[in-house]
Amino acid sequence: MTDPIHTVFADLEADAEEGVAEAFVRIAAGHYAATRTDDARVSTSLGPDELAARFDEPLPSKGRSLESVLARLRSDVLPDSNHLTNPRAMGHQVSAPLPAAVWTEPIVAALNQSVAVWEMSPVGTVLEARVLRWMCDLAGLGPAAGGTFTSGGTEATFTALLAARAAALPNAWAGGLGAVPPVVVHGEHAHYAVTRAVGAMGLGTDNAVSVPSRAYRMDVAALAAELDRQAERGRAVMAVVATAGSTATGSFDDLESIGKLCEERGLWLHVDGAHGASALFSEKHRGRVRGLERARSIAWDPHKMMLMPLAAGMVLVRDERDLDAAFSQRAPYLFHAREASRAWDQGPRSFQCSRRMDVLKVWVSLQRYGAEGLGAIYDCLCATARELHDLVVRRPDFEALHEPESNILCFRFTGDGSITGERLDALNLKLREEFNRSGEGWITTTLLGGRRVLRVTVMNPRTRESDVESVLDGLGRMGARLANG
Ligand SMILES: Cc1ncc(COP(=O)(O)O)c(C=O)c1O
Repeated sequence: MTDPIHTVFADLEADAEEGVAEAFVRIAAGHYAATRTDDARVSTSLGPDELAARFDEPLPSKGRSLESVLARLRSDVLPDSNHLTNPRAMGHQVSAPLPAAVWTEPIVAALNQSVAVWEMSPVGTVLEARVLRWMCDLAGLGPAAGGTFTSGGTEATFTALLAARAAALPNAWAGGLGAVPPVVVHGEHAHYAVTRAVGAMGLGTDNAVSVPSRAYRMDVAALAAELDRQAERGRAVMAVVATAGSTATGSFDDLESIGKLCEERGLWLHVDGAHGASALFSEKHRGRVRGLERARSIAWDPHKMMLMPLAAGMVLVRDERDLDAAFSQRAPYLFHAREASRAWDQGPRSFQCSRRMDVLKVWVSLQRYGAEGLGAIYDCLCATARELHDLVVRRPDFEALHEPESNILCFRFTGDGSITGERLDALNLKLREEFNRSGEGWITTTLLGGRRVLRVTVMNPRTRESDVESVLDGLGRMGARLANG
């Protein structure tokens, strides 16, 4: 019998060959090719139980041939995954990823550098600092600014609020929060990352205070009144969180006014720009984030409007020292570099220890497409959402819920107007489910002002007016059938 170590060693060497690499990459490239036009399904018609049955098998004790593994990828994984590169995929804020960024992924994995510390990633840490500097400059944060890559917006906001906590309560890391924790004030439409951070860091979610919106943007007068109320109660405000590109409607808070208010009161402003900070690349849309430079911290996800494959997030702070204070830990096995390279170590200021060199795909994309290219893509995604809005407005059987400020639009099917209230909510929910199951397109849904609505996010530069039109036509046909059935 062959010793398994010989078999596996032989397989490892064979699999490291270029031809094998090409076989894997060909599958990924084939996926792009198959989704170039809109004649294929966008998503699976199968449910989770049917898919689970496909993979319900014992742990493989012996390795299998490469051909059989590749064949299973082709037959069992690709077809029933969501095809985000199909022009009629318009669901969540997950990108149809930029090809050069995708082809960089195998390099990130092969190099397997951990950007925790310079000695583990000599080029990666330096590149990360370079890209973060570019982003801080774009955001207008000034020469003392810095940041770190994160797994996404949730970690970025968590890290930013930890930095805000260290500024408000320098002893909190060691001594805890005391009897009366400070509060975090956020807009009604803030992403759950905010209350999750508040809960996770032990402030208690009762101390996350929500401010109402006007036209889906934080009501600045209501914010001022809330800050007055907290002052009257004698409660310290740890941070105000504004949103640049809200999850539900892609709306932008008035950062200029909110920033001024925070400056007057000496408050930490965190801007959750996970979705919308990429407007900085666009001459046309940059005005949406006017005032961003007033933030003490910013969450910004390249894996959203910069169309990176998951994952690539960033947290930026106006003063790097704030980030250093967010975590205060010793780890002699890792954080032991001498002065010269310690400045490049990101581990002490990141929630993660081992961390992928995700910056590489961002750097490659900036080299390949340039800031102008990314700006043009941002404009194109927003323009397509605007086209959908205009189509919706022209139709009697749909209602637009807002003007799109970015690439997100909420609308709903109203049919001939005879169905209202909860029945209309139920109809829209069913419409979304059945439409997605049809494979004709893929959209999402949310609750807006208590009403069930349809929601579209354009995350694919291939999506054009004809695609949004065909999705709307499909929804209209199906909606009418459901309403009559
Ligand atoms: C405004 C906003 N903030 C934060 C997040 C969370 O980002 P991530 O999923 O990258 O953690 C999202 C994701 O949808 C978002 O829309």
